[in-house]
Formats: sequence, structure tokens, C-alpha cells
Amino acid sequence: MERLPLYATASRGTEPFLAQELETLGCKRIRQDRGGVRFFAALDEIARVLVHSRIAMRVLYPLRQFEAQGAEGLYEAAHSLPWEDWLERGSTFSIEATLKDSEHTHSGFVALKLKDGLVDRLREKWGQRPDVDTRTPTFHIVAHLARTSLSVSLDLSGDPLFKRGYRTATTAAPMKETLAAAILMASKYDGTEPFLDPMAGSGTLAIEAGFIATRRAPGLSRSFACEAWPSFAPKLKPLMDEVKRAAHGQVRAAPAPLYARDYDDEVITALKRNVTAAGLSSLRIESADATVADPPPCDPGLLCTNPPYGERLGTGGQKGMKSFFHKLGTNLKRWEGWRFSVLAGNDAFESAFGMRPGSKQALWNGAIACELLHYPARLPKRTP
Ligand SMILES: C[S@@+](CC[C@H](N)C(=O)[O-])C[C@H]1O[C@@H](n2cnc3c(N)ncnc32)[C@H](O)[C@@H]1O
Repeated sequence: MERLPLYATASRGTEPFLAQELETLGCKRIRQDRGGVRFFAALDEIARVLVHSRIAMRVLYPLRQFEAQGAEGLYEAAHSLPWEDWLERGSTFSIEATLKDSEHTHSGFVALKLKDGLVDRLREKWGQRPDVDTRTPTFHIVAHLARTSLSVSLDLSGDPLFKRGYRTATTAAPMKETLAAAILMASKYDGTEPFLDPMAGSGTLAIEAGFIATRRAPGLSRSFACEAWPSFAPKLKPLMDEVKRAAHGQVRAAPAPLYARDYDDEVITALKRNVTAAGLSSLRIESADATVADPPPCDPGLLCTNPPYGERLGTGGQKGMKSFFHKLGTNLKRWEGWRFSVLAGNDAFESAFGMRPGSKQALWNGAIACELLHYPARLPKRTP
């Protein structure tokens, strides 16, 4: 089967984990880039990536790269692409453009010029124009213009892959599902040990941990744009059905307990709604203050969390944050046998927390530069 050159986008810092995941899913010629990973995959591997990837945000099929000067250059580029090989009468499309150091200041203007080129070409070929659908288009076209270098791609995923469908209620500062999955992979969480997030917010880390523990593929109950592409659909449909059938078959009960805690009542309400929407009935939700709480009544495992940064959540300024991190560290020092992974977005965290991380990684939570700090388990003190 022919392998297509593809590009999976990822949160900054998660590229190595995505590359590792794509390798496990059978993809070939994997090359990390900033903000994504290039790879080659045949249709069956594409189906596997869409259903199973926990870390990819979108999967793109790059069509061509252009030098595009001015509005005319954009129009000409879009007009020169053989859209009729992909779209058929009745197909709908949308175009999203992103810009970097471009002469143009509005991404909407760039998308509009590209749309004009595409529409005119298809009108010349078909005698009619295709329709734009910004909600559920058959083809979501992604364009990136860096200075005058324009790349145009088709988005195989449609809705981005981090939209798992369980975030029905949001709280302040939720993280992307794909970032949470990368943090768990970076923390070497394989779903067999107890898990706890003591400051769970909307529950992203705990729910993604629950999916890993129950071997639930993140894309099991959703569809993907490329399933409706005329040139893909006949071959892809049976492959996708088979991948989903096999993915259903591997779901199991979580082998170890899972906990999500928070101290805010409103957050707990949102958390419960999301966990129910995710179908994770075994994930226990508890109201507790992380600075004083005891470990849950189970064997030690992984504590993985994303404490408040202080910026958006208003907790008494930097001084208040330092004292909060210090109290948290003082309490967690009592948690013998537990290992900790903390995504810290506040520079003061590491010294105020008061323990020495075994290793750390740079990760970005949206625009916020963070460090993922890994603390090995503390063993019980031996009495002489
Ligand atoms: C940055 S948010 C976590 C976001 C989460 N990762 C998500 O994806 O939604 C931090 C959370 O910590 C909670 N929190 C702050 N201080 C706490 C404490 N002392 N004990 C328990 N939870 C706390 C807040 O209520 C908030 O929901």
C-alpha cells in the first residue's frame, strides 16, 4: 500500500513523545519538527493514527509549498492546485490560515484570497462553485504563510484530535487533552499503577490517565474528515471499521485505582460532569485540599498535577504562590512511595516546593512556558 507524506501537529515540547507514539503505530520515516512531526503512513496506518494517537493535535496532508508574494501570489497559488482531484460536486470546504512574519496582517484576508483562487478554479472546471461550510466541511484546508513561503495542506482529522468529546464543563485554565497525554507519557505512566491528580480542575490529566489505564483509544467514538473524502472513503471505511473494532476489543477495566481531587466545589461539579461524559465510572472524585490531604488508601503510584500558575487564577500574588508551593511540598514529603510529576508554569515552584527533581523537561501549555518536573519516589526512612 502506498505511503503518503503527512504532518502531525503537536504542542511545543511534545514532539519527541508524538514521534515515539507514531513509531508504535507503525508509521515510517518519522522526523521531528518544531510544532509537529513529519511521517509517512499508508491508509491502514492513517486509520490507526487517527483513532489511537493521544498526542497529535491534527493530521495534515501537505499539498504543496509556494513562494507567494502579495494578494496576487496567494490567489495564483490556490488557483494552480488541482482541487478537482480531491473535491467533487457537493463537497464543501473551509480555509484556515496562520501567519508568521508575513506582509499581510490579517489571516482572514489570506484565507479569503486562497478561497477565491480555489473557487475560480473549480468554477472553470465544473461550471459551478463549491460551497463553504465553516462547521463541518468535507475538506478543511490549512494554510500557513511564513514570510512569503506558503504551505497548503488538507486536514485529515476535521475537528482537532484534542476534542475528545468529554469536556462538557470547563473550569479556569484547562489544559489540552493532547498535552495531558504527552505529560503522562513523559511520566512513564502505563496505566498499571495507582494515579492521582490532587488539583484536577476540569480533570484532563486524570481522564487521560483513565483512558490509558482502560486502554481506551481517544478517537473511538468520533469520525474524521477524511472518511468522507471521495478519493479515500471506499478504501478507508473498511480499514477504519476494523481499527475501531479492534480498539473496542482491547478496552478493559482499570487495573489500579484512579483519583481526581480538587478543593473548589464548583470545580468538583464540572469535574464530575466531565468524568461522567468520559464514561470513566471507576475514576474517584474527592474534595480535598492538596496542602494538607493524606494519600488515598491504596498502594503508592503516580501523582501527576498542574498546580495553579498564579497568573490567571489570582491567588495572592507571587508571595502567596511561593507559600502555597512550600505548603504543598511540605505535605507531599509525607507521601512515601509516591512519585510526582508536576507541570509548573511558575519559576518559583521548584525552590519553594523544596524537593529536588530527578529530571525535567520544557513544555508549553498554550503560550505559557512550563517545566515538567519529575520527582522519584521517596522511600520510607529506615529506623536504626
Ligand atoms: C491550573 S488548574 C488545573 C487545570 C487542569 N490540569 C485542567 O486541565 O483542567 C489548578 C487547579 O488546582 C485547584 N487548586 C488550587 N489550590 C488547591 C488546593 N490547595 N487543593 C486542591 N486543589 C487546589 C484549583 O481549584 C484548580 O482547579
